[in-house]
Amino acid sequence: MSSTQVGRLALPNGRSLSRMAYGVWRLSETQDCTVNANLARIDACLAQGITTFDHADIYGNYSCEDLFGQAIKARPSLKDQIEIVTKTDIMLLSDKWPDTRVKHYDTSPAHVTASVDRSLSRIGVDVIDLLLIHRPDPLMDARALGTCLDNLIDSGKLRGVGVSNFMPWDTDLLQSCMKHRLQTNQIELSLLSTTPFTNGQLAHAQQHRMPVMAWSPLGGGRLLAQAHTPGTAAARLAPKLAELALAAGTDTTAVAMAWLMHHPAQILPVMGSNQPQRIARFGDATHVLMDRQTWYELYELANGHEVP
Ligand SMILES: NC(=O)c1ccc[n+]([C@@H]2O[C@H](COP(=O)([O-])OP(=O)(O)OC[C@H]3O[C@@H](n4cnc5c(N)ncnc54)[C@H](OP(=O)(O)O)[C@@H]3O)[C@@H](O)[C@H]2O)c1
Repeated sequence: MSSTQVGRLALPNGRSLSRMAYGVWRLSETQDCTVNANLARIDACLAQGITTFDHADIYGNYSCEDLFGQAIKARPSLKDQIEIVTKTDIMLLSDKWPDTRVKHYDTSPAHVTASVDRSLSRIGVDVIDLLLIHRPDPLMDARALGTCLDNLIDSGKLRGVGVSNFMPWDTDLLQSCMKHRLQTNQIELSLLSTTPFTNGQLAHAQQHRMPVMAWSPLGGGRLLAQAHTPGTAAARLAPKLAELALAAGTDTTAVAMAWLMHHPAQILPVMGSNQPQRIARFGDATHVLMDRQTWYELYELANGHEVP
């Protein structure tokens, strides 16, 4: 067991997630996606106390839940050690859905209920810890969806429900039609995506005591990949991130995660690397001390200007 333990974040329903999560979006793109390789990735997370795994029905053209489920079937004891987050409502143009002729969102009770059943079966668990509505659906019938989600919790298929990419008004609308509380909003948030600090998403989550899950916390890798690309935020940030990483005895990824985790909105980074040596260091973020002025130095480099 690694000495790094990332800790937990309490949800409004009294349950908890690990302080960081591992996202499986890119799992099917990895070179080594055997059951043993995926078990090794899961073990590397567990060694750091990372027990929360972020899925969506659509990941890997509807294949990633299955891939992860094969690992769980190989080691059923994992079910008691992890939390499963998954999402629904995006309908991709896919060979798996031959009747879909346009990419769209579907928050109808029929689709959401069937999607939950498919996710349970693919992952091979009896209950999903958190189901997120993946994107706001302009055709969302909030009363119908809210009742459906409440029923799915009451039936024991879901432990909790949240949203993703929702603006405060979308969240309020859905919440107003539910008896159970929404648990989180999962949004794009990183040094390369700072809009939520000022557009109300983080303020709203704090007001409602909902932790925020940050997707693409490294900007999908651009924070590292563009470090030498002139004119990019990544290039502006790179020297300062490197200096802070050196001082903390870690790498720039850890500093960038510590920057997110320092914020009082209880931001939970959903990490996307599938390389075992990178996964094994996710928890280094908890070793990095971040003070107010350092936070602002990085914020201003990210935005390309001083705060007013
Ligand atoms: N709710 C939503 O709408 C939504 C949308 C997108 C994603 N998500 C969730 O968020 C998770 C994370 O998203 P993400 O994968 O974009 O996260 P990310 O952590 O920002 O980016 C991961 C990517 O960065 C690369 N990377 C990591 N460290 C690197 C380094 N030191 N140098 C160069 N490249 C590096 C990884 O490649 P390697 O694998 O080679 O390390 C991987 O391709 C997803 O898995 C998914 O669960 C949710």
